[in-house]
Amino acid sequence: MEVVIVPDATAGGSLIADALAALVRRKPDALLGVATGSTPLPIYEALAAQVASGAVDASRVRVCQLDEYVGLPAGHPESYRSVVLREVVEPLGIDKGSFLGPDGSADDIPAACTAYDEALRAAGGVDLQILGIGTDGHIGFNEPCSSLASRTRIKTLTRQTREDNARFFDSLDEVPHHVITQGIGTILEARHLVLLATGAGKAHAVAQAVEGPVAAVVPASALQLHPHATVVVDEAAASELKLADYFRATYAAKPEWQGL
Ligand code: F6R
Repeated sequence: MEVVIVPDATAGGSLIADALAALVRRKPDALLGVATGSTPLPIYEALAAQVASGAVDASRVRVCQLDEYVGLPAGHPESYRSVVLREVVEPLGIDKGSFLGPDGSADDIPAACTAYDEALRAAGGVDLQILGIGTDGHIGFNEPCSSLASRTRIKTLTRQTREDNARFFDSLDEVPHHVITQGIGTILEARHLVLLATGAGKAHAVAQAVEGPVAAVVPASALQLHPHATVVVDEAAASELKLADYFRATYAAKPEWQGL
C-alpha cells in the first residue's frame, strides 16, 4: 500500500479531492464509495469547491454508502443516507437517483444486505472507495475480528465505537447498537481504496493497520491485501509509524503525473 503523509486534514482532503476529480474526468459516471463520520468532510468540501468553480462536473457521478445504522427512522438527520445526501450528493450536484445505500429500516435485514451486495455488482463495482478508520481499527463498521472475507451484513457496534459516535447524537443511549456495513470482502472489491486518517487518536490504529500483520483483529490491515490501496495520514496520525521517513521519501520521489 502507498502511505502519504500530509501536514494536516485540509491538505489530505485536497489531495484526495484531486484524485477524485481526475477519476471523474476520466470516467464521468464513476461509482464513488463514500464513508461518513468527521474525517472525510475535508475531501467532500474540497471536491464541492472544485465543482462550484467549474473545474469538474460531478453531475453524472454515482455514489454508494459504506454503511448505515439499523433502526433509525427514515429521514433521521444522523442516518448515513441523510448524511451522504447532505455532505456529498447535494453539494456535488449528483442525481439522487444515482445514490445506492443499504436499507437500514428493512423488515428483512439479511435480504437487504444481500440485495445491496448485488446492487453494487450490478452497478459495475466501486471505482474508488473512501474509507476512514475507527480508533479500534475498523473500516466500514467491520469491528475487530470481522472476517476478512465478509460480505455486507448486520454488525453490532463495540462500546468504543458507540462512544466515539455519541458526539453526533444527544446521548450515548441514542446511538444505535447495530449497523449494516459492507463486508471487508465487499470493500476489497473496489478498484481503488483510499483511507484518510487524521489526528493523534488514530495513530495507534494506523500503525497497526499499516505496519502490523494482516489480522482480523485489525480490520483495516486488510488493505494490505489490496493491489491499489492508498493511506493518507496527517502528521499526528502518522506519529506511531516506524517507517514514516521512508514513506515521506517514497512519495517525494514519485512522479506527479502518477497521482494517487
Ligand atoms: C463511516 C465509517 C467508519 C468511520 C470511522 C471513523 O461510514 O464507515 O468506519 O470512517 O468510524 O470515523 P470518524 O471519521 O468520525 O473518526
